[in-house]
Amino acid sequence: MVNFDFTGKNVLISGAGGGIGGGIADVFAKAGAKVYVADWIEENAKKKADEINAAGGKAVAVKLDVTDLQAIEDTMKMIVDADGGIDNLVTCAGVMYNKPYMMTKPEEMKLTLDVNLVSVDNLCHAALKYMLPKKAGKIVNIQSASSRLGNPNSAHYAASKFGVMGLTQSIALAVAKENINVNGICPGLVVTGLGDQQNSSTITMYMKARNCTREEALEALKTFSPMGRFQTPEDMGNAALFLCSEYAQNITGQSLNVDCGMRLN
Ligand SMILES: NC(=O)c1ccc[n+]([C@@H]2O[C@H](COP(=O)([O-])OP(=O)(O)OC[C@H]3O[C@@H](n4cnc5c(N)ncnc54)[C@H](O)[C@@H]3O)[C@@H](O)[C@H]2O)c1
Repeated sequence: MVNFDFTGKNVLISGAGGGIGGGIADVFAKAGAKVYVADWIEENAKKKADEINAAGGKAVAVKLDVTDLQAIEDTMKMIVDADGGIDNLVTCAGVMYNKPYMMTKPEEMKLTLDVNLVSVDNLCHAALKYMLPKKAGKIVNIQSASSRLGNPNSAHYAASKFGVMGLTQSIALAVAKENINVNGICPGLVVTGLGDQQNSSTITMYMKARNCTREEALEALKTFSPMGRFQTPEDMGNAALFLCSEYAQNITGQSLNVDCGMRLN
């Protein structure tokens, strides 16, 4: 019988106050894991942790800005002091600017790389300090369909997500002999608040460009999905749970497309 029992395990999820991170948190909590729900918007982290606890799971809200290296190190130490180690890390915090390339600004590139790429390096590095001595641990970095194909309207985002794929492969190889698995997931289209904080979500930009309603934009965006539907945050949670499970013990350095067939490479 397939057993996805994560009782006694913990997981730190960055960006878990958001759509996909929140779905991943729910799935790990349902499997019995203690979930550290981290987000720089503390009230969103708290809301998700409260929801999980009210449903009978175990969750702890953490205010964490992933661009703050000291805060990352403090968070890891806090978890290790509480639980004795870090079993699983899912890096999911993300930002996106959606605009034609010639309208982009250098400061947008910097923020995109800091949140989407540099933080992944810092989070992996900090977690591995505790995983390596135990020769145990699983890491999943949330990438994107934009890790595999450039986009004239989100060049910085694609650059950051290509980077996370290279980083994931490289870290996976660096720790492969130590029984630690490092993988990625490439979502296609999930309806979340991605880009809202940058006033730049794909849906809003589509509505402006086509002068259409949100419903019309969503219908049009669905046509990019070969299966004709969006993916859900829980789809990403199920994939992350699998990659952190014993069933994935011989999978490392991979980036799993969970995108209804949008990308076949
Ligand atoms: N939604 C999609 O269609 C889609 C597709 C491919 C990849 N992704 C990736 O999935 C991940 C989650 O995105 P989402 O769609 O759930 O968007 P979202 O906006 O709902 O969630 C992103 C979360 O990251 C948090 N965040 C941003 N900057 C942060 C920082 N400095 N420190 C800590 N937290 C920070 C936000 O507060 C938010 O809660 C991102 O990495 C995104 O690139 C999303």
